[in-house]
Amino acid sequence: MADVYDSLYPTSGPAIDSMITFLDELRPAPASLLELGVGTGRLAIPLAEHGYRVHGVDASPAMLAKLHENDPTGGITSSVADFSALVVEERYDLVLTALNTFFMLPTQELQISCLRGIHDALADGGAAVFETYNPQNYHRLSEATTQIGHLAADALLLDTIQVNRQLQSALVVHTILGPAGLRKVPEVSRYAWPAEFDVMARLAGLRVTGRWAGWDRSPLSELTEKHIVVVERQNA
Ligand SMILES: C[S@@+](CC[C@H](N)C(=O)[O-])C[C@H]1O[C@@H](n2cnc3c(N)ncnc32)[C@H](O)[C@@H]1O
Repeated sequence: MADVYDSLYPTSGPAIDSMITFLDELRPAPASLLELGVGTGRLAIPLAEHGYRVHGVDASPAMLAKLHENDPTGGITSSVADFSALVVEERYDLVLTALNTFFMLPTQELQISCLRGIHDALADGGAAVFETYNPQNYHRLSEATTQIGHLAADALLLDTIQVNRQLQSALVVHTILGPAGLRKVPEVSRYAWPAEFDVMARLAGLRVTGRWAGWDRSPLSELTEKHIVVVERQNA
C-alpha cells in the first residue's frame, strides 16, 4: 500500500492539528515520541515539525522508505521491527499507536505482548496514546459489506469487509482499481472492547487514564466513530 497510502488519509488539516493539540496538552514538545506503525510518516512528519523528537517503528521497509522520502528535514529516525515484540534502546515520553494500528495485531496474546513492550518503552511519567475505531463499527455488521473510496481522478478503492464476531476480527480486502489495473490487499484486524483493553493493559503493568471519542476530548457514546485511549504505567 506504500504507493497509494498517502491518497487514503489526510496528511494535514484539522484532524492532524487536533491530534497535535491533544498530544501537546498531554506531554508537550519537545518530548520524545515513539510512533508504532509509523507508516509513511503522515503523522510523524507534522509531529516532528511541531517539535517532537520522533522515532518510528514499522514492519514494512516500503512504508519507511516513503517516510524518509517525505521527511523534509530528515529529522525522524526509524527502525524496521514488529511492534508486537518491541525492543527499544531509548525510553520515550509519548508512545503513539494511531489509526487502528493496534488492532492490526491479530490475537489477544500479540496485543498484550505489544502493551508489555510499550510499558518498557515508556520513560518515567510517560504516556501512551491509542487511536482505534469503535469496535461497534464492525461488530454490528451481520453480513459482508462493501465501501467505495476515492484515490485519485483515475483510481478507486473498494473495501469489502467481513466480520467474525466470535473472534472479534474483521477481514478488509482493499481492492485498488487504477491505471495499472486491479490489485487486492487483504488486512485483518482484531478489535478489543474497552473492558478487554483495560484488562490487557493491566496485565502489561499499565492503567487506562482517559478515553474519549476524538482528539477534541469529546465524550464516548455507542455511536462514536473512534476511541482515543491514554495509558500510563501503573506505578507512575
Ligand atoms: C494503518 S497504517 C498507519 C500508518 C500511520 N500511523 C498513519 O496514521 O498514517 C499501519 C502501519 O502499521 C504497520 N504495521 C502493521 N502491523 C505491524 C507490526 N506488527 N509491526 C510493525 N508495524 C506494523 C503497517 O506496515 C503500516 O505501515
